Amino acid sequence: MTQKIWGGRFREETDALVNRFNASIAFDHRLYAYDIEGSMAHLRMLAKQGIITAEETSKILTALEEIKVELDRNEIPLDDYEDIHGLVETALIKKVGELGGKLHTGRSRNDQVALDVRLFVRDAIGAVTDLIRDTQSALVTLAEKNFELIMPGYTHLQRAQPVLLAHHLLAYYEMLKRDRERFQENFKRTNTMPLGSAALAGSTFDLDRDMVARELGFDSITDNSMDAVSDRDFVLEFLFNVSVLMMHLSRLSEELVIWSSREFGFVTISDAFSTGSSIMPQKKNPDLPELIRGKTGRAYGHLISLLTTMKGLPLTYNKDMQEDKEALFDTADTALICLEVMCRLLQEISFNAEALKAATGIGFLAATDLADYLVRKGMTFREAHDIVGKMVLAATDQGKELHDLTLDIMKGFASEIDEDVYEWLEPSACLEKRNIPGGTGPEIVQKSLNKAKEELKN
Ligand code: ARG
Repeated sequence: MTQKIWGGRFREETDALVNRFNASIAFDHRLYAYDIEGSMAHLRMLAKQGIITAEETSKILTALEEIKVELDRNEIPLDDYEDIHGLVETALIKKVGELGGKLHTGRSRNDQVALDVRLFVRDAIGAVTDLIRDTQSALVTLAEKNFELIMPGYTHLQRAQPVLLAHHLLAYYEMLKRDRERFQENFKRTNTMPLGSAALAGSTFDLDRDMVARELGFDSITDNSMDAVSDRDFVLEFLFNVSVLMMHLSRLSEELVIWSSREFGFVTISDAFSTGSSIMPQKKNPDLPELIRGKTGRAYGHLISLLTTMKGLPLTYNKDMQEDKEALFDTADTALICLEVMCRLLQEISFNAEALKAATGIGFLAATDLADYLVRKGMTFREAHDIVGKMVLAATDQGKELHDLTLDIMKGFASEIDEDVYEWLEPSACLEKRNIPGGTGPEIVQKSLNKAKEELKN
């Protein structure tokens, strides 16, 4: 690293190891477009305030545009610089001479990097929320396509009550809806403009901070210069929001993994979205949902890592904060690729109606409904619960289901039971009875589906 923007007060050359350890260019070059965009807005403001002349401004702006193009084309070697801010400024001075040194008037790398990271997070939130919406659409399409299918609902991974497959899928729609809302909140707190805070105390120049904010599309300017250069809450929020999103994708992935097992057989994943084994010729593995599940750990790791980095820092900027970037970039990349894969994967799975039907018929899924039946005949729920429990026990001993018991046998447990009980125990009847808002009844699920489609339009 030969090119420095801060050499003045030093007698000795920086040690090579120090350069290697201190530099962030290897990863923060990714911020170059934001860095240049921010510099241009800052520059136009300096001109408007009469701090630099119009002629100087247009020379620097032209040079910055050229530097942007050169960076787009990978034409500037990165190795010579400490970070992206030094690179751009040095490249500028190479182009326009001493004049380039005016760009940093009233600015510090501390507010500059805060700005760049905010611009990055803003875009990342936009990209993530777009893909969340696509994934929600894929869920809705899948739910619609398979609307007739009934499956076992589970608690403790034990068969519990019949549900509509669409209801199960729409549960993930709801999770992703909350995720989107969280990112929208995150955006609000990210979209405030730190430039003008300078190193920590604000600037002696008469900067028009509102103008810079307007130019860069920020809703507001930060209110406290010390907070502005030391705040990474908006990054942490992003990491947290991705962690929750990944947790949701991971749970869905886990279901796809178990559903596609021979044991469940509920789902078939297309060949194009499955993988094989190098030794076992018969294998078809669900690597994609497994990888999504696996990558969730990285997101959690990055969140904990940055929380830990920030926890002991005195105000204001500390170099520790340079550690925010790799965590942030990897988290954004991970979220985006996982969403993209999940969205496509949902279009590549088909449900096996037979297997779902068979699973719904076994395991006493209508037991709660039988208890409710007895309550309607005048029993307290607790009494009904106890009687049905005894019926389940008796049926289990005989290797039967509730609907296999004869009416005589049933009446032996509760004389209130009549012939209509058999219809009452049908899985479809269990659903029909649950057209309560939020329930799994087909009418109400259809309404949820319509509501979801409306929401996706907006
Ligand atoms: N590379 C630094 C970072 O990412 C930029 C800010 C450096 N500021 C400073 N005062 N050394 O945090």
